[in-house]
Amino acid sequence: MCGIVGVTGNQNAVQILLTGLKRLEYRGYDSAGIYVNAQDGKEYLVKEKGQISDLEAEITPEVHGSTGIGHTRWATHGEPSKANAHPHVSADGRYYLVHNGVISNFAQLKAEYLSDVEFKSETDTEVVVQLVAKFAQTGLTTKAAFKKTLNLIDESSSYSFLLMDNQKPDTLYVAKNKSPLLLGIADGFNVVCSDAVAMLNYTHDFIELLDGEIVIVKPDSIAIEDATGNKIERQSFHVATDASAAEKGAYPYYMLKEIDEQPAVMRKLIEHYVAHDGSVKIDTQILQSLQQADRIYIVAAGTSYHAGLVGKELFEKIAQIPTEVHLASEFGYNPPLLSKKPFFILLSQSGETADSRQVLTQINAHHYPSLTITNVENSTLSREATYTLLLYAGPEIAVASTKAYTAQIAVEALVAKALGELRGFTTARNFAVAKELTTVANGMQALVDGKKKIEKIAAEILKTTRNAFYIGRAIDYDIVQEAALKLKEVSYIQTEGFASGELKHGTIALIEEGTPVVAVITDANTAKHTRSNAQEVIARGARVIYIASHSLAAVGDQIILPDVHPLLTPLVAIVPCQLLAYYASLQRGYDVDKPRNLAKSVTVE
Ligand code: F6R
Repeated sequence: MCGIVGVTGNQNAVQILLTGLKRLEYRGYDSAGIYVNAQDGKEYLVKEKGQISDLEAEITPEVHGSTGIGHTRWATHGEPSKANAHPHVSADGRYYLVHNGVISNFAQLKAEYLSDVEFKSETDTEVVVQLVAKFAQTGLTTKAAFKKTLNLIDESSSYSFLLMDNQKPDTLYVAKNKSPLLLGIADGFNVVCSDAVAMLNYTHDFIELLDGEIVIVKPDSIAIEDATGNKIERQSFHVATDASAAEKGAYPYYMLKEIDEQPAVMRKLIEHYVAHDGSVKIDTQILQSLQQADRIYIVAAGTSYHAGLVGKELFEKIAQIPTEVHLASEFGYNPPLLSKKPFFILLSQSGETADSRQVLTQINAHHYPSLTITNVENSTLSREATYTLLLYAGPEIAVASTKAYTAQIAVEALVAKALGELRGFTTARNFAVAKELTTVANGMQALVDGKKKIEKIAAEILKTTRNAFYIGRAIDYDIVQEAALKLKEVSYIQTEGFASGELKHGTIALIEEGTPVVAVITDANTAKHTRSNAQEVIARGARVIYIASHSLAAVGDQIILPDVHPLLTPLVAIVPCQLLAYYASLQRGYDVDKPRNLAKSVTVE
């Protein structure tokens, strides 16, 4: 949901901003812009509709500077256009601003303070830069004008801001509320970014910024103040991720690279979480807190929610603890009746999803224990939850989540094993998690190695279809919901994932001659039932593709999955579904890494 970058103290500011924006493009890609100041009286504002490559094409060799800010946008207020692209500039031409978030009360502020100002965009952001200018015109310093503006912004708003004043061209004014932002200390210069991945080419040392703080960043100093003006000293933290982990390498697209990385992620998780004797290495405080709970509530969005559905199977069947799974956007405003001792698990690849964060804020207000399972160390959800477990999946750049989904399920399996043992259940003792995840890793490898076959099936059934269905029961129903999301978000084929038994209660009316239906069969108890439901759609003209576990396969099934533990079948079954989505998107001529209308890190509610 928009990515922002800033740099001060480096003659190559343009290059640094563009490199950072390319790395943040997963956060939005409908328009982009940079403002750089060369501190010799020259300043440049370049904006363009489209992707960072479109912006880059507009940047002439003359554009240079040593301090600057940049933005890649996912539109909230105002259509994607050059005028609505950031940075926004004040009417007097003095201030430039980039923003990630939403200003809820922008219309009131505009009406109350800025009725005499001519606006150039339809964005909420422009109100902020115009307000700073207005207050500065009354004689306030830039910092005071910025602070005064921040104080007028409604608490429900979200923002991370980078502001520049062309009368102080080496200075970045920085503030945040809810939206993520990090300060980076590079060799002789400083940077600011929405996500560390943006600046890994220049630094691995970052300082976190908290809501309500205001920061003045100069080439050789970073001064943090809290809302009341107290100076804050904060240690930096080191991000070990190698910059190359965020590169595509020889792959045509990140999504394919990330699908292929899944066997390695499984092995990495075993390495991190399993001791030589096979016991699970999870902080005892986390396990003790879980042991005291009478019910687990998993809260998440999108693909992470689907990983939560599988988590419910794992927690209930291995650790024998009742578990509910909730969509964060629903839970926040319509919470269920909670048990006496709830324990919350927030699943989030990015650790920044606003819907999940607003739930965590409520959880914290009640002092309930919580665990964030995330791919991003030091992310907001990780900082604000009681405990964190990391996914160790490496940066996930493609907008469609793949390796984070499987990593989340694997971590849930590890937690379920450790908790179940602590609760004294044989089901947990008998669950040899490291061995089972190794079998999964080998199975995933065989599936990614066989991708040519999937490419062919995608070409046969998905290249031109208008709609498609995934069906399955029990754990296969969990799988098909994720499989359907994957296909629809990258190929724009209207796809639904159904509990196969439900088809006949209405949805079967949508089946026409040639409608693709993918039946996922990994659950022994329901395999026969799903096969009869598949026959029902075949009888009405559907074109059925079977994805079945080896031990449940029938003659003619097109995709055979290696047998794995019955509660871990989503880890292998999802791989061909991810590949079907990937190839369908390419065959239909789309940019699979950047599906339309989407952004990876959804930092607005
Ligand atoms: C779909 C996808 C999204 C995310 C969702 C939650 O492929 O990536 O549905 O899963 O926006 O994001 P995180 O996991 O970062 O909280």
